[in-house]
Amino acid sequence: MRKPIIAGNWKMNKTQAEAKELINALKPLVKDAECDVVVCVPFTDINAVVEAAKGSNIHVGAQNVHFADHGAFTGEISADMLLEAGVEYVIIGHSERRQYFGETNETVNKRTLTALAKGLKPIVCVGETLEERETGKTEEVLKKQVVEGLKDVENLASVIIAYEPIWAIGTGKTATADQANETIGYIRKVIAENFCPKCAEKMRIQYGGSMNAKNAHELMSMPEIDGGLIGGASLKAEDFSVVVKM
Ligand code: PGA
Repeated sequence: MRKPIIAGNWKMNKTQAEAKELINALKPLVKDAECDVVVCVPFTDINAVVEAAKGSNIHVGAQNVHFADHGAFTGEISADMLLEAGVEYVIIGHSERRQYFGETNETVNKRTLTALAKGLKPIVCVGETLEERETGKTEEVLKKQVVEGLKDVENLASVIIAYEPIWAIGTGKTATADQANETIGYIRKVIAENFCPKCAEKMRIQYGGSMNAKNAHELMSMPEIDGGLIGGASLKAEDFSVVVKM
């Protein structure tokens, strides 16, 4: 049995004061959650969120990590810096980073290898564009993202994958539960065939893209879907807690 994991992706939202307020509101609402609860917050919020979440079941994640230990990489952050601040999880290769900041399968792979070597739990994002889906390229694109993104990874079971169709992110247009289940099943098959069948069974694969309080139940009831990466709906305690309790 795979334990579901619901992670909020706050993206570039919330000042420290707002972050503290959100965590304080969230704590009592999610305290009995049966899934792993994670919030992936902006770098400047990490200290405040770790402090506010102390003693609760809320785990803290970041939204990026560099592959080098340290050095001349303006604007980046290292795994040691994140670990020192109390971070456990890290989102890698979100489609917004691929789209706007030149992230590739190769850099995703390097960041993932470093995160794992340092003991951070990576949430590796994959997903197709609308054009790719409409022209029948979804499987080809996902296979490449998964095989190249996870190349040389030894402890695959520690990796979480977030399947996020780009056309569903922030658009209010969710994949249907069947579509998401089928595509995640395909990702699991790719992992079994290219890496190891046992790891594929153990790995948690989330759905992401306009997942919210209204559609979470249906998505979470699908056998292949092990949780969600939640953007917009993670910014309000009430909405996020409903998703967590599905
Ligand atoms: P959304 O974002 O829930 O706002 O669609 C999900 C994500 O990008 O991780």
